Amino acid sequence: MLLLGIESSCDETGVALVESQDTALPILQAHALHSQITMHQAYGGVVPELASRDHIRRVLPLTQAVMAEARRSLDEIDVVAFTRGPGLAGALLVGAGVACALGAALGKPVLGVHHLEGHLLSPFLSADPPKFPFVALLVSGGHTQLMRVEGVGRYQLLGETIDDAAGEAFDKSAKLMGLPYPGGPWLAKLAEQGDPMAFKLPRPLLRSGDLDFSFAGLKTAVLTQAKKLGGDLEARKADLAASTQAAIVEVLVKKSIAALEMTGLDRLVVAGGVGANRALREQLNAACAKRSVRVHYPELHLCTDNGAMIAMAAAMRLQSGLEEASERYAFDVKPRWPMASLTT
Ligand code: KG4
Ligand code: ZN
Repeated sequence: MLLLGIESSCDETGVALVESQDTALPILQAHALHSQITMHQAYGGVVPELASRDHIRRVLPLTQAVMAEARRSLDEIDVVAFTRGPGLAGALLVGAGVACALGAALGKPVLGVHHLEGHLLSPFLSADPPKFPFVALLVSGGHTQLMRVEGVGRYQLLGETIDDAAGEAFDKSAKLMGLPYPGGPWLAKLAEQGDPMAFKLPRPLLRSGDLDFSFAGLKTAVLTQAKKLGGDLEARKADLAASTQAAIVEVLVKKSIAALEMTGLDRLVVAGGVGANRALREQLNAACAKRSVRVHYPELHLCTDNGAMIAMAAAMRLQSGLEEASERYAFDVKPRWPMASLTT
């Protein structure tokens, strides 16, 4: 079965083709991505109207590029998958609209996919795919969650952020330091030249005894520190970046280890944009190696939003018999869509 996946929930247009057989893991055939980052950079964040317009411009040329790379024709597609939510309503509607139009024109069914389930299952596209069950640390721009994952559609939320997400903590702190949008990768790069012990920043909820996170206070502490530095900020920016990253990473690592201990599982899967962070990977690897826990990540280029994870999640949901693709071409996107509602 050949599945086309379309991602358009935020600021990347992603299209991919995945081939799925009865029980084996689906395989990525081709994927293409257009990032809108440079377009939004001038505004310091995503402008929803511009995002939607750009998805419209990019999605069909990207689809053509993917089909050409895989040497397949559109009429060979069996299912058209798209991101149904959560995300920006107008941006989601572009992917849903194009998926439904393609499905209707080709006489093929469509399937709407949860964006976070896409991230969660993206490590199955890597050369070293995980096995169920595992603990998942989902760290994106909008979400920070720890989950116990028994199988496709069998997700138990163990803890989540009560305010900002980890990606948001990176992005907002970076913005306070005058770094470009999106700040995460910029802050991480600057942090490589800094001293992570230079400034004492809070590790919120580190000893709360549960698996919840809170990052809003960190951003305030970074702002206070930046103000205190005044004219010296420029010279100490790398140290402040390194200290901020160290605070976020320490909390993510300690809570992941606590989740592994609580569940007794010996496998950790990290997914979402912040999963690309090198310091996080190094410290998780070290902490897990000590405990004989295997850690799995998505390929670096599939950590942030992409179409491959959407096609993959659709393929795995269909394989597991959780749902069927539909020929009811409804543009019913869900800009707010709790992941808990996916659990069977
Ligand atoms: O998963 P994603 O692409 O989008 C959402 O679904 O939100 O995650 C984007 C987030 C942004 O906050 C971005 O700054 C962060 O991931 N990010 C990073 C790195 N690469 C992306 N944060 C820290 N270090 C990185 N290397
Ligand atoms: Zn995402």
